[in-house]
This record gives sequence, structure tokens and C-alpha cells, in this order.
Amino acid sequence: MIRKSTRMLRSYFHLFFGPAFRLTSRFPEAFEICKEFRIGREKMLQIANALTKEIQLGLARETHPQAIVKCFLTYIQDLPTGRERGKFMALDLGGTNFRCLLVNLTDGAVMQSTLKSFAISEELMQGPGTDLFDFIAECLAGFCKEQNIGNDRIPLGFTFSFPLQQIGINKGILRRWTKGFRCEGVEGKDVVELLQSAIDRRGDVNVKIVAILNDSTSTLVSCAYSHPDCRIGLIVGTGVNACYVEQTSKAEMLDGYESSQKPIMIINTELGAFGDNGSLDSVRTVYDKTLDIESVNPGSQTLEKCVSGMYLGEVVRHILLDLMRMGVLFRGMRPDEMQTKWIFRTRFISEIESDPPEVFHNARVVLYHLGIKTDDLNDMACLRYICDSISLRSAQLTSCAIVAMINQMNVESCTVAIDGGLCRYHPHYRNLIEQQMSILLKNASAYKIVLSEDGSGLGAALVAAAFANK
Ligand code: BGC
Repeated sequence: MIRKSTRMLRSYFHLFFGPAFRLTSRFPEAFEICKEFRIGREKMLQIANALTKEIQLGLARETHPQAIVKCFLTYIQDLPTGRERGKFMALDLGGTNFRCLLVNLTDGAVMQSTLKSFAISEELMQGPGTDLFDFIAECLAGFCKEQNIGNDRIPLGFTFSFPLQQIGINKGILRRWTKGFRCEGVEGKDVVELLQSAIDRRGDVNVKIVAILNDSTSTLVSCAYSHPDCRIGLIVGTGVNACYVEQTSKAEMLDGYESSQKPIMIINTELGAFGDNGSLDSVRTVYDKTLDIESVNPGSQTLEKCVSGMYLGEVVRHILLDLMRMGVLFRGMRPDEMQTKWIFRTRFISEIESDPPEVFHNARVVLYHLGIKTDDLNDMACLRYICDSISLRSAQLTSCAIVAMINQMNVESCTVAIDGGLCRYHPHYRNLIEQQMSILLKNASAYKIVLSEDGSGLGAALVAAAFANK
């Protein structure tokens, strides 16, 4: 009886205090570090409120020029109707892969969609802009040939996932590169013009770019095709960003916004920059600061650096390095591999957190890859706890962002379309967002989180359909 109740007590303890309990006693240093990544409800609410205010500064004509969260106009003022039809192309550039799509729409359905992916090398990401656009045009030409696209001029929607100040549906000036891109000669220029000239220079592709849009916008639009109440599109992938449906009367940067015939406008917030003026300082740790200093764009994309797939693995690496330096993890082992920046990929976090409780198969494989050969279950539990903490903070901040947009729209319910590597491949990310939203909102279940199915492609094709003849 006594043994049974001790066992029960132990499993109760494990259930509720499991890894944290073990950590406090075995690895107090790690526990202290992870504690700094956990954000309480009050602070989360403050962050959500601060973000709503920043959104308002971005929308208002007077404050827009200095605003951190830019809230760019998208010129998309209608959500899909389901009546779109015809053949459309989509290009999707925003990370280490670039994709071409051909989408055939009939009444209310995608009849056929063909996709081809191309890797973007680091040389292209950081070389001259003309090389990048010539490469895209070349891939597009090859794709059109394979698809036997003859002489018909196909309307194309270009998903370009970087901060773009749009001055029309097919005119957008790149404000600055993010996510490791640094191509010269593109910032300050109209990206549509650069790509269209690269296409036209070739003379073998008959494609017209009719719309340019962000991946968060594509995600919202494609989700609205099947969920008409979709009002938010959110990306947590290599980068982070969100867009939402605003009343045109509040989109002050639009000429004639007060008298526009159309009541809504999708706003591309570019909220990855939130915090660039210090508003996230209370949740940033020394590890975030080191990562920022070592990044290609120090001082910018502060929220993105705490949340997105490009950076989370690197934050974990910095924590592990620190604990290894203190001699508390991996029996003092300090393999050279761990000195390599970015070696700890964010997908490792997803893999480690995919192991069932008390099983450390993936953790062992990851550590082996990093030159750490250990069978110590405590070490592995500690690693998992660190990954959990970093993922949780990311999901907490993402939830704050969703709540900030819900508050700005003042809607009682809606669908939130999500996409990006973390949403798609992290085993708990979506659950974490839902759980955190229920901490922040009384009626959280009225906001449905839906993982978008190929948002970037379908959304761009749908927007191309809407603007093909304009
Ligand atoms: C870019 C956004 C993009 C996001 C997700 C950010 O770095 O600034 O435009 O939507 O990444 O891809």
C-alpha cells in the first residue's frame, strides 16, 4: 500500500513537475536560464497591447514613417469568392527554396496544381540582385517549357516574402532584406519591375506579373477560399509575419481611404520587426542579444529573432555552449562542432520534442550529429527541457501577436490561417498557440486556428485571378 502510494506520488510528481523537477536538482543553472524564457500572463497581455498600439502607429499617416510595425497596404480589398476560374501561375520566394506553380481554377475548386521547387544557394542569397532575378526567370522559363505553356500570356501572382512597401497591387518597393538575404541593388527598388524585366529580357516566357503579395497574405487569401471567415494570416517559418483584414477607413496610407468604395483592405503588418525600439526588452535574454549581434541584420527583426525557425536553433546552441562552458552538461565535453554557428538547426528542436516522454531517441541522434556521444538520460532530459522552453516562448509571443490583431479588429470570432515550418513540423506548436490563447482570451475557442494547405501558391494564384483583367 505504502509502496503503491509512493509510486503514485512519484508519477504525480513526474507528470506535473517532471523534467523541471529533475532539472532543479540536477541542473539548477539550466533551470535558471530556462526560467528567463517563460513569460507570465500579465507580461503577455502587456506585449499584446503594446503590439496593438504599434499596429495603430503603422496605420496612421502621421506616425507611419517612424513606425516600427509598418502595416503596409496590400491593395487586396476582396477575399476570394469561389468563382475564380482559369489558369494562373504563382512564384514563391521567401526562404531557401523558390517555387513555381501552375494552378487551374474552376468554380469553387482547384482543379489541378503543379509545383516545382528550386534551391536558392547562399551565393544567390547574398550576391547581386540581377543574378537572383535572372535565376528566377530561368527557372520559370524551364517550368513553362515543361508544362507546355505555349503563347497564352498567363497572369502570375508573385509571393515575395520580405518587407515590401506596396504602391499598387503589382508595384512594391523592397524596404530591406531579412532572413539571410542581402542581394545588392534591390532595396529601394520595385521588385515587380526587376523580375518582369528579367523575364522579358529572356524573350522565351510569356508571363505577366499582375500581383505581388506577402506569404502571410497568400496564406490568408488561400484559407479564405475554404473558410470565408478567415481574417488573419500568420507565418512562423524561417521568418515571422502576419496580416489581417482591416477596415479601409483605418488604412490611412491609402489615398482616398475615407471614401473608398471597398470596406476592407488586407494589411501586411511586418510584425517581425516588433521590438526593434526596445518594446520586447523585458523578455529578451542575453542569448537573444548575442544572437542579434552576430546576425546579418543586428538591431532589426527583434520579434522574428525570438520566434522564427531561422533563429530558435541558434538560441539553443548558445544556451548549450554556456552550460558546457560551465561544465554542467555532457560531462564537460566541448566538441568543435558546437562552435559552428547555425549547426543546431531548428528542425532538431522539433525532432527532440517529437520523442515520446522519457524516450530520447531523437535527442541522442541530434547530439551524435553535434559530436556529443552520451547516454546520460539526465543530459538528454535537460536538452529537451531547453528546447521546450524556447518553443514555448516562441508560441507565447506568436499568441500575443494573434491577440493583438484580434483586438485591433475587434471581432468576436474568426479563423486564423497559419503556415510555416514551425506550424507545420513542430509536434506541439499549434497546440501551444491554442493553449496560450486560452490563457489570454476569455472566448479563445471562438478563434479557430487552421493550418493552411499550400497557402503561398494558391493564395497568389487567387489574387492573380482577381487582378488578371484589371
Ligand atoms: C519577412 C516577411 C515574411 C516573413 C515570413 C519576414 O522576415 O519580413 O515579409 O512574411 O519573414 O516569411
